[in-house]
Amino acid sequence: MTASPIVIAIDGPVAAGKGTLARQLAARYDYAYLDTGSLYRAVGSKVLREGGDPAAAAAGLTESDLAAGDLRSEAVGLAASKVAALPEVRAALLDYQRRFAAHPPGGKRGAVLDGRDIGTVVCPDAAVKLFVTASDEVRARRRHKELMEKGDTASFEQVLADLRRRDEQDRARATAPLKPAEDAHLLDTSDLAIEAAVAAAAEIVAAALKR
Ligand code: DC
Repeated sequence: MTASPIVIAIDGPVAAGKGTLARQLAARYDYAYLDTGSLYRAVGSKVLREGGDPAAAAAGLTESDLAAGDLRSEAVGLAASKVAALPEVRAALLDYQRRFAAHPPGGKRGAVLDGRDIGTVVCPDAAVKLFVTASDEVRARRRHKELMEKGDTASFEQVLADLRRRDEQDRARATAPLKPAEDAHLLDTSDLAIEAAVAAAAEIVAAALKR
């Protein structure tokens, strides 16, 4: 019998650095990586484009939905947060995420998933749980820089307001709200450059996996 895969769960608010940390940890351990936000973004994008029932969109998500060109835009982020509050949408996406964790693609020994409810709902038995935060201003600055590099003209104030609105929506929803699992390690990256944040996360993961 093969050992069950090791799961690293990374949660946190908008632009806290979850994706970067998750990708780097997955590369370091040679684990599979799933950005669960992209699933909600694909549903949000489809509903913005075609209208219709978000739950049906979630249940019928295709590879081409997941490759939509606008997935990283602010509008799609807000739409994703809206559809993510619907229990039927969350239920439709749950199996896929759990299957990914239980059977990481490519026969990998483990999986890193990032999102909002990985440590609390999707993988409550994850070997390591990280809850990554940073101040609103730091996160908005990072997100604003990213958007400017893509040619987006949104102002810093607009980005900050959108980020707060989305976090509030994600925290306040009744089903699987954004919050740290009781056994999550908190990592505040406000004062950390990327390399230092990755090093701090890797230290937490290494210590937890040794136990
Ligand atoms: O991580 P992200 O910003 O790409 O996620 C987009 C939205 O999707 C986020 O505002 C809330 C929702 N989401 C969620 O509810 N649960 C997850 N596990 C991941 C994302």
